[in-house]
Amino acid sequence: VLLKSYNTFGIAATARYFASFTSAEELIQVLDQPLSNQLPHMILGGGSNILFTQDYNGLLLKNEIKGIELLGEDNDYVYVKAGAGENWHGFVQHCIAQNLAGLENLSLIPGNVGASPMQNIGAYGVEIKDVFHELQALHLQDRSLVTFNNADCHFGYRESVFKKEYRQQFAILSVTYRLSKQPHFNTSYGAINEELERMGVKELSIQAVSQAVINIRSSKLPNPAEIGNAGSFFKNPTVDKEKYEVLHAAFPKMVAYPVGNDQYKLAAGWLIEQCGWKGYRKDDAGVHAKQALVLVNYGNAKGNEIYTLSQQVLDSVQERFGVLLEREVNIV
Ligand code: FAD
Ligand code: EPU
Repeated sequence: VLLKSYNTFGIAATARYFASFTSAEELIQVLDQPLSNQLPHMILGGGSNILFTQDYNGLLLKNEIKGIELLGEDNDYVYVKAGAGENWHGFVQHCIAQNLAGLENLSLIPGNVGASPMQNIGAYGVEIKDVFHELQALHLQDRSLVTFNNADCHFGYRESVFKKEYRQQFAILSVTYRLSKQPHFNTSYGAINEELERMGVKELSIQAVSQAVINIRSSKLPNPAEIGNAGSFFKNPTVDKEKYEVLHAAFPKMVAYPVGNDQYKLAAGWLIEQCGWKGYRKDDAGVHAKQALVLVNYGNAKGNEIYTLSQQVLDSVQERFGVLLEREVNIV
């Protein structure tokens, strides 16, 4: 199966076998076939955080479990469960339309609900761990159904147990979010307030915050329907105070902010831009002209061309700043 339309980078790799499933039962049926056991397999959602650097020589399983369900409520919260195959932004809009707060800052993130816990998706001052209640997953080997609560997932910045010790071991089937009846606006990310002001918003609402986030994102992130990409290619790196002070003295304009005890997070986009990569293009592989943290495919780039470019970027940031960037996108 040709995967070009199954990954937002638009890489024309192939998968040796491909199946989609709309329920846990269907997934088990596929896994029970004798051939499945002999092949490596991998779950695919919206394909918006994957780079295929070669053809996939196994069984790709596309999660298409749908459905949004109100599970219950208490004084402050409503519990909403969504099938892993629901489109993330569609789910966010559905909750906003019901006046349920908590996901508005995460508007317009591509991909599906099932992948949202994988890297604890985050944007504009909010991460899903702030509103995540629990998820259900199927263990691909022993076929057990397992419930993970918030603590079980070991969420961190762009991290979870599913990217680490349980890598490729579970299919996430559904995720339940705990949303607030009363909004707690998070506009700490400076650009949101600026945009709300520009929009002429007098009274905050989750609809307005969502629209502000949509406007900011649309102004700098490439739309995968037009230019292939997978969002930020690297994570923003964290350095200790000593390293930060050395860098800050040498580069007073460096974008950084304190996190936790004596640690600083640096804006990788700034580091990459300083190395001269912003807007770079070789054949169809490039660095986005409005956001240097995003690598792009102008049409027919091969996965390994994007990967090679990412290595060059990584090497130059390491050489200039002594900071090692880590890839955020899942490399296959
Ligand atoms: P896929 O790319 O299909 O899969 C990602 C990984 O999760 C793979 O390893 C896959 O095997 C695994 N996986 C997927 N679904 C399941 C499942 N049901 N069970 C088990 N494993 C599964 N991310 C952010 O955090 N913040 C942002 O602001 C952001 N902005 C973006 C902007 C753009 C323009 C783009 C293209 C991407 C952006 N991303 C962002 C990255 C991406 O949207 C998220 O990582 C998203 O959650 C990926 O969802 P997906 O369904 O496309 O996952
Ligand atoms: N910057 C530059 N040059 C660039 C890009 C950024 O100098 O080319 C500077 C900006 O001026 C700003 C700072 O870096 O001062 C941060 O930039 P931005 O607000 O665009 O956010 P980011 O740190 O580049 C992160 C996430 C995004 C998320 C936004 C908003 C990571 C790896 N990326 O990007 O997530 O949408 O913040 O919260 O943490 C993704 O994961 O795919 C993604 C897009």
